[in-house]
Amino acid sequence: KIQPVILAGGVGSRLWPLSREKYPKQLLSLVGDKSLLQTTLLRVAELPGMLSPVVVAGEEHRFTTLAQIEMLDCFQSFAILLEPMGKNTAPAICGAAHYCKSIGEDVVLLVLPADHVVSDTEAFVEAVSRARLLALEGSIVTFGVEPTQPETGYGYIEKGTGCEVVSFKEKPDLKTAGDYVASGNYFWNSGMFAFTLSALLDEMQLHAPEIFSAMGEAVQAGGVDGSFFRFDKKAMTSCPSDSIDYALMEKTAKAVVVAADLGWSDVGSWQALWQVQEKDENGNVTSGDVILDDSRNCLVRSEKKLVAAVGLENTLVVETADAVLVSPLSCSQDVKKITARLKKEQ
Ligand code: GDD
Ligand code: MG
Repeated sequence: KIQPVILAGGVGSRLWPLSREKYPKQLLSLVGDKSLLQTTLLRVAELPGMLSPVVVAGEEHRFTTLAQIEMLDCFQSFAILLEPMGKNTAPAICGAAHYCKSIGEDVVLLVLPADHVVSDTEAFVEAVSRARLLALEGSIVTFGVEPTQPETGYGYIEKGTGCEVVSFKEKPDLKTAGDYVASGNYFWNSGMFAFTLSALLDEMQLHAPEIFSAMGEAVQAGGVDGSFFRFDKKAMTSCPSDSIDYALMEKTAKAVVVAADLGWSDVGSWQALWQVQEKDENGNVTSGDVILDDSRNCLVRSEKKLVAAVGLENTLVVETADAVLVSPLSCSQDVKKITARLKKEQ
């Protein structure tokens, strides 16, 4: 049996002005009419031997999260674990593991970010079945993606023989990332993981004992409220904030990797979103009320107004009720500079 754990607590400020604190990336319909959280859950529903999914999300997003899951109408049951505050992925995963332990036996957990695009569902199902076998041997399984450029926002997995992992480096600097990619010895970490409950909890206890015990306490003192389970606020307040990549993956000796060619993207920027989407004959991706003339390789989205453009190339235009963003697609990583400024000026 596989217990899916969906991480749905991120903020994703790089897709401003569409992503906002109230509407983080995973809750937006970026590709097609379903949100990334919904497409993640639909992908999970394809897995054989799947248990009811567990979704870990922020308290402030509980109603949108619940509504989006119920709308799918494909799970008999599910649980939404609510964090009073975000403490990054290590506490979220460790908390989910403690929760699953409190309600059942040892199972294989499949941890999935809620805000990624995976276009090849068949390859996903196949990769998970390989990961499951490795997880049952007690390994901490990562899913490796073949890198295409030196990205500093990813974790890097150094390959050994077979599925062995020699080392794991989270978010290296640009030069190091360049060396890694050039060497051909590294995968990108996709951010998906598989392990048994007991293997994860043992490794967390060893390498991140404070998170392990704070989240154990957060579950023990936590409470059920309808479809929600709330982690205890006091225990979570005392929990250190860290990502699973720094807290565990860089330290554990039990990591292995499954090579996974999934048509994967973490949609980290508008440009990445343009890349994964189907384009018209001029390479444009549009949504909403948009008219383009003599324009190529553009991403143009309208929410409220008619948006028209003439003679544009490689350009991004996003119109929403209260903000408009215009930029060369290639600069779309720098949108985070705008959101940082907006935060400061608030
Ligand atoms: N519930 C919950 N609580 N979820 C969270 C929290 C939290 O506090 N923080 C982040 N998440 C969710 C995000 O929504 C996302 O789905 C996932 O956890 C990963 O978090 P990110 O913040 O997006 O991590 P990252 O993109 O910087 O890095 C991770 O993903 C990369 C691939 O996209 C790492 O695992 C990297 O090694 C990896 O390459
Ligand atoms: Mg991410």
